[in-house]
Amino acid sequence: MNYNEVMQNAKKLVNGKCKACDVCNGLACGFTMPGPGCRPPYNTAARNFAKWQDVLLNMDNIYAKGNIDTTFTLFGREFDLPVIAAPIGAPQLHFSDKYTEELEYDLEAMQGCAESNIAGSYWVGFEEDTYIRKLEAIKAADFGGFLIPAIKPFANEKAKRYLDLCRKYNMPAVLMDIDGAGLPMFKENADDSGCKSIESLRMLREYAGIPFILKGIMTVKGAKKALEAGFDTIVVSNHGGRVLSCLPSTAEVLEEICDAVGDKMTILVDGGIRTGYDVFKALALGADGVLIARTISTAVVGGGKDGVGAYMEAIKKDLCDAMEMCGANSLAEIDRSMVRVIR
Ligand SMILES: Cc1cc2nc3c(=O)[nH]c(=O)nc-3n(C[C@H](O)[C@H](O)[C@H](O)COP(=O)(O)O)c2cc1C
Repeated sequence: MNYNEVMQNAKKLVNGKCKACDVCNGLACGFTMPGPGCRPPYNTAARNFAKWQDVLLNMDNIYAKGNIDTTFTLFGREFDLPVIAAPIGAPQLHFSDKYTEELEYDLEAMQGCAESNIAGSYWVGFEEDTYIRKLEAIKAADFGGFLIPAIKPFANEKAKRYLDLCRKYNMPAVLMDIDGAGLPMFKENADDSGCKSIESLRMLREYAGIPFILKGIMTVKGAKKALEAGFDTIVVSNHGGRVLSCLPSTAEVLEEICDAVGDKMTILVDGGIRTGYDVFKALALGADGVLIARTISTAVVGGGKDGVGAYMEAIKKDLCDAMEMCGANSLAEIDRSMVRVIR
């Protein structure tokens, strides 16, 4: 099954909120939520996609070409690509009813990640028993990958219980979407859920005892605070435009964040990254790796675990193409001189 076949299949299986568009640019789904859209009044998902189109490749074929190596290292582990499957909550609601429940989707997606040798992340659920069921299922499936539970910025005591479970089930790392503070359930509470102080974040990071990724950083100020709280890995992300409207795209803020803290932290980025060319652009602007959400979901809908494999093959092909044509034999050789940003 190639990626084109996966997408043809996905078109038949999506629920109409997602249309499995040939180009996932945030326009057809618009503000459809539930669905894969984003929060009105301005289409931040479309902006995310569009701004990568303003990053152009500087082709240069005069260099000593070697074997192209896309190997990516994160937390001491080697992966085939600098791509991580981003967490997606309630895919059965937003994309397709092919999967009757979230766990079925998660297992298929995570197996696809493990078999493609990329890291994957999955949302764990608001209720602790849902979370435990997921951890047990992931553990029992024994896919052998690097599969990261994604928790919300729960109140500190609940977050600690979730971190306890990560350790109990021997999870390799944990991710928290701090921008989940935009969800109504956190907004309505005046406790320590949602937005968190540097002290709370520092306490939780130390408490975790496993690698901890903080997702949802959109400013240099925020990245410096994450650093102050002791984080060494962040995701520059606006949650695909779903938690707040009127945000800049991630492509627009990535470079300044990398310039400020890139030598002290691992910086990942997501939002509108669809192809291996986009992955190349993100690395050229300073990111170490990327996360992809919506198009991995359509690949899972269209081809299950093999859909993820087919999509990753397509990404690798385009990434290698960009690397070869711009003069980089390895990810470390991709640099700022290899792209031009149209402003
Ligand atoms: C339907 C949907 C559900 C999502 N659920 C979560 C979630 O539970 N946790 C999280 O951290 N991010 C979640 N996200 C955000 C994604 O992980 C990612 O940050 C965002 O979609 C940007 O990437 P993309 O343009 O590749 O989709 C969700 C996004 C979508 C579209």
